[in-house]
Amino acid sequence: MPSRRRRTALLVVIAAVAASAVVAAPSVAVAAPPVYTPGADGAGDPYFPFAGNGGIDVLHYDLDLDYAPPAPEPAPLTGHLSGVATIDLVPTQDLSRFNLDLRGLTATAVTVARKAATFAQVGDELVITPTKKLKEGKRAQVVVTYGGPTTRPTDIEGALYGWVTTRDGAMVVNEPDGASTWFPVNDHPVDKATYTFEISVPEGLVAVANGLPTGPPVTAGGTTTWNWDAPDPMAAYLATASVGDYVVNQYTAADGTPIFDAVDPTRLGAPSADLALTSDMIVFFAGLYGAYPFNSYGAIVDDDSVGYALETQTRSVFSRSAREGTIAHELAHQWMGDEVSPFRWADIWLNEGWATYSQWMWTEHRGGATAQQSFDEVMAIAADDPDEFWQVVVADPGALGLFVDPIYDRGAATLHALRVKIGDDAFFELAKAWVDRFGGATASTAEFTALAEEVSGEDLDAFFEAWLYAPEKPTEW
Ligand code: TRP
Ligand code: ZN
Repeated sequence: MPSRRRRTALLVVIAAVAASAVVAAPSVAVAAPPVYTPGADGAGDPYFPFAGNGGIDVLHYDLDLDYAPPAPEPAPLTGHLSGVATIDLVPTQDLSRFNLDLRGLTATAVTVARKAATFAQVGDELVITPTKKLKEGKRAQVVVTYGGPTTRPTDIEGALYGWVTTRDGAMVVNEPDGASTWFPVNDHPVDKATYTFEISVPEGLVAVANGLPTGPPVTAGGTTTWNWDAPDPMAAYLATASVGDYVVNQYTAADGTPIFDAVDPTRLGAPSADLALTSDMIVFFAGLYGAYPFNSYGAIVDDDSVGYALETQTRSVFSRSAREGTIAHELAHQWMGDEVSPFRWADIWLNEGWATYSQWMWTEHRGGATAQQSFDEVMAIAADDPDEFWQVVVADPGALGLFVDPIYDRGAATLHALRVKIGDDAFFELAKAWVDRFGGATASTAEFTALAEEVSGEDLDAFFEAWLYAPEKPTEW
């Protein structure tokens, strides 16, 4: 789904073309017949060349999932998922065929515009050839029936992600390209879409996705079905449909945001006490970045073997560390990462730097270390640090460097140094303008540095060179 702003820009172009057509001389040329070509097998991201696809703009995913978790121990940790994905999309070129991403599951039927289509799975690509070619701009509905056993997939660094099967369900976290382990998808943040979910699980289990339930769960014949509606445009890596024997806690935050928390009963206790800070945190970050951007929020606290948290849109997922700092970090991502998402995975520091800096500011607000003290701690890392902390190019860390410490800590230090350089007024105006201008869409490092110059009126080339591009410790800026 394109952003509101881009759509407006497109309309302006169309209006201009239409206006010039009025004065143009009558044309005798007959328009060339359209050339239908295959959509690309990637979205053009150098870090993950096969993530996402070309030639399509998905508007909406409706995911109808049936899930059977593993049998009790000592059965293997393998579940079974079957799904029907109904995908509304608009071709962005005249298409002879197009791809979706689908990994580890088998497609058994595909229709396009209600007609059976030819399809093949080549590596992690689902290649779909409709009987009738697709015209640019003409909306089409694609229905993929699929399924198979679920395991515990890992990303290129070896971290668990995607549909992570647990004994009582699944903990679902997709960053950066794991959505394709549970549904056919245009798996790159540049193609945001809205989502609805209908998830059927064994009676009594909770299936928790993004957005809000559309009604209470319905139980019949030993199965409980949960329906969820996520109407805010969302990048695929931020989708979730976690399943477990969760304890649910629903309430309303101080700003009116409805909260839905789902906590594994073995992990009640300390996490729940820290989760109670969520309402105050929403108010705090709304003050810094503008109103909370989505229709709901909440936490899923699950399997601690995954070992990290993820800012799943409207419903952050926590594994090992559902503690105050991490809760603040994932909540801040809802503005910085979710509402405004990376244009390329190389732009990841904009997610992690902002979320970490938000954590620093929350800590200061709570009477702990000041943001300046947290900055000083990063600057205490020696220029010749044996782990080569300062050698990472923050704005281009490589596909294996998305989640290394400098992305978080030098990223946050960059923002603090910027705040000191341009002053609080310009810095917080920049933060709000960033969310306001690029909200609902993606943005790049170049767009960030340009906006910082625009808002501050300063030339910041040398500043950003030292902080984001130089593979060494900044000494002056
Ligand atoms: N984006 C997550 C965060 O809130 C971190 C993350 C995603 C991660 N995938 C990971 C961390 C894999 C380590 C390994 O910071
Ligand atoms: Zn983060």
